[in-house]
Parts: sequence; structure tokens; C-alpha cells
Amino acid sequence: MASGARCSARHGHGRRGIAAVLALAALASPCRHGAAAAAAAEGSEPKKWHVVSISSLLPSTACTAAKASKSSALRVVHRHGPCSPLHARGDAPSHAEILERDQDRVDSIRRRIAGASAIISDADRVADSKTVSLPARWGIPLDTTNYITTVGLGTPPRNLSVEIDTGSDLSWVQCKPCARCYEQQDPLYDPAQSSTHSAVPCGSRECQKVEAQRCAADDKCRYDITYADKSHTNGTVVRDALTLAVSHALPGFVFGCGHDNDMGPYDKIDGIFGLNRGKVSLPSQVAARYGGAGFSYCLPSSPSAEGYLAFGGAAPPPNAQFTEMVNGAEPSSYYLDLVGIKVAGRELEIPPAVFAAGGTIIDTGTVISRLPPRAYAALRSAFVRSMAAYRRAPALSLLDTCYNFTGHTRVRIPSAALVFAGGTTVSLNARGLLFVSTVSQTCLGFASTGDETTVNILGNTQQKTFTVIYDVDKKRIGFGAKGCN
Ligand SMILES: *[C@@H]1O[C@H](CO)[C@@H](O)[C@H](O)[C@H]1NC(C)=O
Ligand SMILES: *[C@@H]1O[C@H](CO)[C@@H](O)[C@H](O)[C@H]1NC(C)=O
Ligand SMILES: *[C@@H]1O[C@H](CO)[C@@H](O)[C@H](O)[C@H]1NC(C)=O
Repeated sequence: MASGARCSARHGHGRRGIAAVLALAALASPCRHGAAAAAAAEGSEPKKWHVVSISSLLPSTACTAAKASKSSALRVVHRHGPCSPLHARGDAPSHAEILERDQDRVDSIRRRIAGASAIISDADRVADSKTVSLPARWGIPLDTTNYITTVGLGTPPRNLSVEIDTGSDLSWVQCKPCARCYEQQDPLYDPAQSSTHSAVPCGSRECQKVEAQRCAADDKCRYDITYADKSHTNGTVVRDALTLAVSHALPGFVFGCGHDNDMGPYDKIDGIFGLNRGKVSLPSQVAARYGGAGFSYCLPSSPSAEGYLAFGGAAPPPNAQFTEMVNGAEPSSYYLDLVGIKVAGRELEIPPAVFAAGGTIIDTGTVISRLPPRAYAALRSAFVRSMAAYRRAPALSLLDTCYNFTGHTRVRIPSAALVFAGGTTVSLNARGLLFVSTVSQTCLGFASTGDETTVNILGNTQQKTFTVIYDVDKKRIGFGAKGCN
């Protein structure tokens, strides 16, 4: 298929307003990448093996993404790589530290799911009373997130580097005046310098939509999110104009103005933008204003490349395969019905009930996908059999199946695919199967949940380079291969 046809086919059914513009931007953006479009011209028959050059697995130390983007989708880059605006500040975590923090994140997701019913009933109670004080909402540890974008907040817009997080609802940024703020790269957002800033009063519907809110004596809507690692953000819920991309603004965006914040030691982001299914998440606010509930993103293959994020009910790329967005124990998470795994073209013998016990969520911030113990064991043994030609290397944190590729210029890796209910089969690329620490320690990029009943997670290692489409209106999630480099 010619890449021109693939690109022009995307300008299909837009919606009105900002949603249409951003949707089109999202769909148009892969066309910026000549290489991606050309690669898509390869046959679509699933391969049993990938032969990859070792050097292609290693990130470049320079940012290879175009600096100026004409598209109106938001650029998405890895927080700790050369394309990150925070990069010059140094202090990136090691791979082992990233994996340890990844486990912290997974633990906090499990705690949240276990406590989901309790939190919902608390939120219902507080709606009846202005004076009840909620315990701080437990969030996801701050330093575990991985992909950032730049948004403009206020009028005139102030550019801020924020994490995009499908595990969070309320967005927040550090905000003047600071009781306690950590040092950040960009100037702080200052409500006094924005002509469109306004407070969110306590009794308002906007305030009550925030799960971690409580009313202060001064009638300000306050929020308090404490992360498991003792980092926290604490402040008032406010509104201001949000510039999502060149010349497109969302007026009256509700977010947390953090006056008292702390976070871990690495590459300090200016805040977090929540993309979950909660009532005040960014996609929920875009949908409430413009309709077309949904968004899509593409996480880049490596820290030296660039992906994107766009909002609006998008006409999906023609190669997108969809699977149903199902209901799960925690209503603000995105659940999928994962039922199987294929390795080198053969489906592993795993009863689908193994996946159903805990359910499966998709998350931007979890690095390594977590599988039920029986599914992980089946995947690992199939992988190990296929990789018999290579020397093993020691385990790396939670990754127990690692190889030493020193001395090889190319490696042959079995293909792998995720199978969803209804038969939708998403073939992973080679990078979706591997977590590359160094050439001498490259690991199977999956881990076991350790427990048959806990939630399974589709993490970002496996999502890289797919356009992932969250079609909230049609309750489905789509995967389009080769959405970005
Ligand atoms: C903010 O970011 C946009 C998009 O990257 C850029 O065009 C603009 O010049 C930036 N504004 C400021 C004040 O740095
Ligand atoms: C949050 O703010 C309140 C009121 O300003 C303060 O008393 C409290 O200590 C803060 N919480 C944290 C975790 O710092
Ligand atoms: C990888 O293999 C090389 C060559 O045999 C060896 O020198 C090195 O110590 C090994 N590294 C690891 C992490 O196993």
C-alpha cells in the first residue's frame, strides 16, 4: 500500500470544534514520519520471527525527532531521554531504579483497585456535606511516570512540562504562592499573572467531581493527593484556559493548583495531567465541552524519538484493530479483555479464565506488562525455548529472563501477539517484547503479577509505536501499528 493513500484515508469523519481539529491532527501526524509510513508499506502478514540489529535496540544519545512540529497534536517524549525538556538537568534513574519504581506504581494501582468501593462511598457521602474532611487520596507514586508533553496554561499561556498519566484523574501543576514547592525547570504557574484564572468554589459541581477534595473554611475547594512514596501534592482546585496545541485552547479547564508539593529526586516534572476515566480527567473535560469522548496517543520507540497525544473522537487509522473497553473493579481505569498470548505464531495454552480473574487494564505509566503467573510462565518458557542460541544474563530487578547479546550484531527474536476477546490479535514489534538495559543485559519485557487474582496490566513497553485509540463513545480501544517512530 502506498503511504500517500494510507495518510489521505485518515481525513475521514471529523467532529465539530476543537475535537475535530485535534482528531485530524492526530490522524495526520503519522504522515509526518516518512520512515514510519514507508515501513507500513511492508506486508501485514504476521511474522514468526523478528531479526533485529542490536544497534537499533539501543537509544541514540541525541534526540532524532524534528524540533518544530507543524501538527497541532501534542508532542510526547520520554521523560528521561534526550528529547525531554528536562534532560539537561541530568539525574536520570538507572534501569534497575526505573523497574523498582515501576513495582511501586503497580503496588499502588493494586491498592487503589482493592480500595475502589470504599473510596466511591466516601465521595458520595461528602457530596452531602460541606464539612466532612476526607483522608488524602492515595495516588500513584510521582516518580514512576514516563512520558511527558508540553501544555500551555493560563492567558497568556505558560508552557509547562507535564506527565501524561492514564492512572490519574485530577490534573495538577505546581502553583504560586508556594508553601513548599520543589525546584522545577519552567517558571511556576502563577494565577495572578493569568487573566483567565478563576477559583472553583466549594459547593460547585466542579469541586464535588474531584475525589480528593475537601472544603476549607475560606470556601476554597482544596485537594490533597498523597503518593505511596510520601511524595504529595496539596492545594486548591481552580480553572484556567488550557492550550493543548498550537492555537487550540480549552477554556475553564479544572485542575489542581499545587501550593504544597514534593516528589522524588529525578527529572522533576511541573505536574501531572490525568487521562483516566474519572470525572475531571482531561479527556472527560474535553468531551464534556466538545463531545467526541476519546483520545489517542503514540508512545515513541525510544527516548530519542517523539510520539504524540491528541483529543477528540478520532477517525482511526485504517490499520487499527479494536477490542472492547470492558467494566472492571475500578471504574476510572481502562479495562480490556485480554484472553491469550501468541509466540512465534502459536497460541500458548493458557485458559482465558486465568486472565479474567483479575481483569486487565491498560496504563501509560506502568513500564512492564504484568501477566497472571500461569500466563507469564507459559510466555517465558516459549520465549526461552526460542532463544536457546543466546547466552543468559543475570536477572534485572523484576525481570527474570535476560540475555547477553555481546558479540552479536543481529538477534532473532520470536514474534509475540496479544489476543483479546473476539479474536483481535495485536502483534507486538521486537521492542514490545524486550526491555533493553544494555547489550549484555536485555530482558523479556514482561513480569508476573505473582498472584492469580490481582489486576493484569498492559504497560508502556508493549504499547510503544502503536497509535492507541481510546474510543470512549464506542467503548473500545484500538491499536494501530507504526503510529510513530
Ligand atoms: C510554548 O510552546 C509552544 C509549542 O511548543 C511554542 O510554539 C511557544 O513558543 C512556547 N511559548 C513560550 C512562551 O515559550
Ligand atoms: C496540606 O495542606 C494542609 C493545609 O494547608 C496542611 O495542613 C497539610 O499539612 C498539607 N499536607 C501535606 C501532606 O503536606
Ligand atoms: C556478557 O558476555 C561477555 C562476553 O562473553 C562477558 O564478558 C560479560 O561479562 C557478559 N555480561 C553479562 C552481564 O553477563
